[in-house]
Order: sequence, then C-alpha cells, then structure tokens
Amino acid sequence: MRPTKQIEADLTTYYDAESQHRADHPLGEMRKANRKLAITRLLSPLDRPLLDLGMGPAKEGVAFKNAGFGVVGLDLSIENCRHGTTVGLPSVQGTARQLPFTNGSIADVWSMSVLMHLNDEAVGQALSELRRVLRSSGLLICGTWGGADSFDLLEGRFGPARVFFHRSDDRWQWLIKEHFGVVEEFTIQRPLPDLDWHYQFCVARAP
Ligand SMILES: C[S@@+](CC[C@H](N)C(=O)[O-])C[C@H]1O[C@@H](n2cnc3c(N)ncnc32)[C@H](O)[C@@H]1O
Repeated sequence: MRPTKQIEADLTTYYDAESQHRADHPLGEMRKANRKLAITRLLSPLDRPLLDLGMGPAKEGVAFKNAGFGVVGLDLSIENCRHGTTVGLPSVQGTARQLPFTNGSIADVWSMSVLMHLNDEAVGQALSELRRVLRSSGLLICGTWGGADSFDLLEGRFGPARVFFHRSDDRWQWLIKEHFGVVEEFTIQRPLPDLDWHYQFCVARAP
C-alpha cells in the first residue's frame, strides 16, 4: 500500500496532466442534477465562502459563483488551481488533510469525486478538518464512488494509476457520522450501470 504522501504525489501528477482534458469536457447529467439540488439546499451567507474541495478545473466552482455564491476552491493539482485563477475563482493549492482556513470560516462544503482517493487515516483527517472549518450548521455535500469495501488502482492515460478506496454505504456514513453526528441525506446513484461501483451522494450538517 502506498503511503499518503506518495498517493498525493501520484494524484497530483495525474490530475495536473489531466486538467485541460477535464476542463474541455462537460460534466454529466447526474452531476448537474446534484448541483441543482445543492443550490436549493445551500444557504451560504455572503460573509463566508462555499469551499469546493478537490475542485478540479473549477467548472463547478464557477457554476456556484454564477449562482451567486462566494466560492473558494482547493485542490492538490496546481494546474487545476491555475484553471481556477484564470476563470476568476480564488483557488488554493493544498490537501484536504490540512486545510488553510480558520475555524468556522467556511459556509458550506461541496466535494465531488475526491474523498474516495483518501485512505482511512487521511479521510479521517480530512473529515476532522472539514468539521473544523465549517460554521455551525454548515453543510458538507459530498459525492464518492463507493461499493463493496475494496481498494482499486485505476490505470489511466494521464499518469500514475489512481487509488480508489471504495467504501460501503454503511461504512462511509459511519465515518462521516463520527465527525458530523448526523447524515441528513444519503442517496445511491448509478450513472454507469455496468460498473461495480455506485455514486454516494451525501449531505451532512456540522453540529
Ligand atoms: C476525480 S477529480 C474530481 C474533480 C472535480 N471535483 C470534478 O468532479 O470534476 C478528483 C480531484 O480531487 C483532487 N484531490 C485528490 N486528493 C486530494 C486531496 N487529498 N486534497 C485535495 N484535493 C485532492 C484531485 O487533484 C482532483 O482534482
């Protein structure tokens, strides 16, 4: 098993190289529907931004910005941050395990297809950090590729194989509850029915 620092270094290499490709391709219908739903739920006050954690090339950050939210993006990939800055989104290069924000300074968090890249120790650190930076009653809205509890290495054309820690629905909710107490919403989506994995769309509220 690769150590966390190695996992992050490999993901950075991969997503740096993939950044332009992801920027050039539209997001799927499932994602658009999830974002629409989120916009009806989010109450981001203007004095605090929404954090798009693992924002990729900032497409969704821009969509939230256009919907009237203050947004800050954070990603391991410097190329993704470059995209963010180019389109006018405040973008920070960093890791979910150690967020460069003060306690309670983030209104809500949106994080799609990111947290399944973190091993159990790292995801525990990230959830603890998200809880710390979120205001009380702020929402964590996250989407992850889950399934049977298993580990996959996915070869791709942009760089090193990416790690996926697929978590079962029960275990993922249990991990989130450890930090947030309650999961308000948990839905399973199957945009790719032939795949063993499914998408876990989850909404939790900071106490
Ligand atoms: C599958 S992409 C998803 C990008 C974007 N959220 C989307 O849905 O299009 C995963 C993103 O998470 C970022 N990422 C992975 N691990 C991370 C970590 N530990 N901290 C911050 N970002 C991370 C990657 O750099 C990449 O941009």
